[in-house]
Amino acid sequence: MATITDQEITIIQPDDWHLHLRDNDMLAETVPATARCFSRAIVMPNLVPPVTNAALALEYQERIEKAIPAGSNFSPLMTLYLTNDTTEEDIKAAKAAGVLASKLYPAGATTNSASGVSSLTAMYPVFQAMSDHGMLLLIHGEVTENHVDIFDREKEFIEQHLKGIVENFPKLKVVLEHITTKDAAEFVSAASANVAATITPQHLLLNRNDLLVGGIKPHNYCLPVLKRNIHQQALRETVATGSNKFFLGTDSAPHEQSKKENACGCAGCYSAWSAIELYAQVFDELDALDKFEGFASLHGADFYGVPRNTNTITLRRESWDIPQAIDLPNGNPIVPFFAGQTLSWKLQD
Ligand code: NCD
Ligand code: ZN
Repeated sequence: MATITDQEITIIQPDDWHLHLRDNDMLAETVPATARCFSRAIVMPNLVPPVTNAALALEYQERIEKAIPAGSNFSPLMTLYLTNDTTEEDIKAAKAAGVLASKLYPAGATTNSASGVSSLTAMYPVFQAMSDHGMLLLIHGEVTENHVDIFDREKEFIEQHLKGIVENFPKLKVVLEHITTKDAAEFVSAASANVAATITPQHLLLNRNDLLVGGIKPHNYCLPVLKRNIHQQALRETVATGSNKFFLGTDSAPHEQSKKENACGCAGCYSAWSAIELYAQVFDELDALDKFEGFASLHGADFYGVPRNTNTITLRRESWDIPQAIDLPNGNPIVPFFAGQTLSWKLQD
């Protein structure tokens, strides 16, 4: 049970149910950043080349584990990247190797999704295998057709694809990742107990004005793209209800400064170093700190069917500024999400 005072919040240690750690030398940056706060994280498989089978997932897990700081209790939870060539055997083998979930990227929807799936219905035998073997389906829910406006792509995906998947596979656990719209929040709220969603800090804190008013703000650019204010408000109202269908997934997705501040800037916000504080700020603003622990630490574990954490973390009311830049292990800088802005809660060591 959380303890909340005006100055201090103590909650069960949270998990991050949607995270990009990248690979190789980047792990020396990203793994400590997440291990600072989170006990477990669902690690996205969109490497180049992607993590498409059990062997690749286990090798990637080993590389991540080597980067875990001494004394940390952090453990990565691995995922598989679904392609047109994924087989039912791949699912069975991955599940046996401890892979909890598979990620569906519609081909071309986001960063490193070129190997993603081109026909959803062609994947139905794979979804059936996932349902049979108890593997979760994590979905980047956006259509990719050129004629569909980028701000409508999530809503269209729900109509064209998600409704069908959920109807055809009632036993399959589905997480609609990083939801951005009122439509998604309403769909998930009304769906069966096997359908849930993650929500990022940026989609709770910002709307598309924060991307486009007064100049383009490349560090607020992520996919699915920030939507209009009514959608941000709907997401905020949704987490304030305390519904157990919604949980923390930062989608922390680092790209070097030069790749963000670019004529063709990459999508993704690097939020790991301040993630829990950003969420605390939102729940505090909503006067819903009593719902913070459920969202951050309980609902995700319950949905995934893994034990809840038992240890706790404490945040104190304390002003601090997010740094303007962080140096990566390769010497290049990265601009963290909310760089230079002041937060009012700070994780205690
Ligand atoms: C992610 C990335 O950079 O890997 N980018 C993003 O904008 N969220 C991919 C993703 O989750 O869509
Ligand atoms: Zn992501």
